[in-house]
Amino acid sequence: MGQEQSVVEGVEAPSSSRVGSTPPRSPIKRAETALNTRIQPHTNRVTKKRSKRSRRDTSERKTIIVDGIPISFRRERLVSLPPLETEPEKTAMSIMKPVVGKLPLTDECLHYDDVSEVPQNLQKYFHQRYSIFKFYDYDIRLTNDAWFGVTPEPLASRLANDLPSHLYSTPRRTTIVDLFGGAGGNTIAFALSEKWEHVISIERDASTLACAQHNAEVYGVSEYITFIHGDCLDFLDRLKHHPETLDPSLREKCDMSKTVLFASPPWGGVDYKEQDVFDLSTMEPYNLEVLHKSCSPMEHALYLPRTSDLRQIAKLAPEGERIEVVQYCMEGASKAMVALIPEATPELT
Ligand SMILES: C[S@@+](CC[C@H](N)C(=O)[O-])C[C@H]1O[C@@H](n2cnc3c(N)ncnc32)[C@H](O)[C@@H]1O
Repeated sequence: MGQEQSVVEGVEAPSSSRVGSTPPRSPIKRAETALNTRIQPHTNRVTKKRSKRSRRDTSERKTIIVDGIPISFRRERLVSLPPLETEPEKTAMSIMKPVVGKLPLTDECLHYDDVSEVPQNLQKYFHQRYSIFKFYDYDIRLTNDAWFGVTPEPLASRLANDLPSHLYSTPRRTTIVDLFGGAGGNTIAFALSEKWEHVISIERDASTLACAQHNAEVYGVSEYITFIHGDCLDFLDRLKHHPETLDPSLREKCDMSKTVLFASPPWGGVDYKEQDVFDLSTMEPYNLEVLHKSCSPMEHALYLPRTSDLRQIAKLAPEGERIEVVQYCMEGASKAMVALIPEATPELT
């Protein structure tokens, strides 16, 4: 884990040119790739990348039958984190548009340099800051709330690579919508994965969205992300039932048959950590049914607590289809579960 800030001399500025429709890597990533090195923040030191082999994750795969329904179940050894609570907001039926330019950073968009500045309840996350964002020292910004919910980079990258629907899949999926964009953990990984023509990130809190835009700039991918400041359930409702209330650029990018939705909602309600099996109908403010209904019939990946009730997830399988569930683990402990729910036959709920 890098501990210190680095000055990367001779590294190119981010290029605005684009080959095909895939985003270029960040300047840091490109420098690392070119040199086959890992740049150490602060020290100008570069070290050989650890071999893939030493970082290889073990994974277990099996098909399990839940209430007579087969689920393909996979357990991946990696990383992740917990909850955040907020209430849904309703926006008026004016045209929903993408953010133009950057929202300004606010007093809530913080970068802590030293643990002495960090509120007590966040210190444990601050100690994991380089697992959360490898380039934390390059002025990554987070609101105090965002620390609890941001998906750590190793997990976000693995998940972005795992999602099967991409430019080259059949049926062809070209757009991913990160419904609960937060400070950008998943959104940035989706853009860096170079698997999507369009990455759309929705966040209803302005300061958190400003952090995400800023962090995407740190990673060199901000220009490949369309940010929406708004309520994602409102967005989905418009997309399905009132497409005319979406800005034409959004309508064009979000053809429902070519779009995959990703939802990492707040995990509020009864403390999931204290449950052997977490009842997803009690998750707040959006429970499993609300999320699934809002996302259907589009293919959607739900990022859920590790103890989520598999029987509840299994019931979401469209007729004749399987749901894939991946458990992401680190140091032997499961951190989160992702359920990939296939597109349902076009019957809007
Ligand atoms: C668990 S965090 C997501 C973290 C994100 N995946 C990341 O890695 O940074 C949930 C985020 O959803 C936002 N949120 C909650 N309800 C929302 C809604 N209805 N529409 C859009 N954003 C919402 C919260 O403000 C919070 O930032």
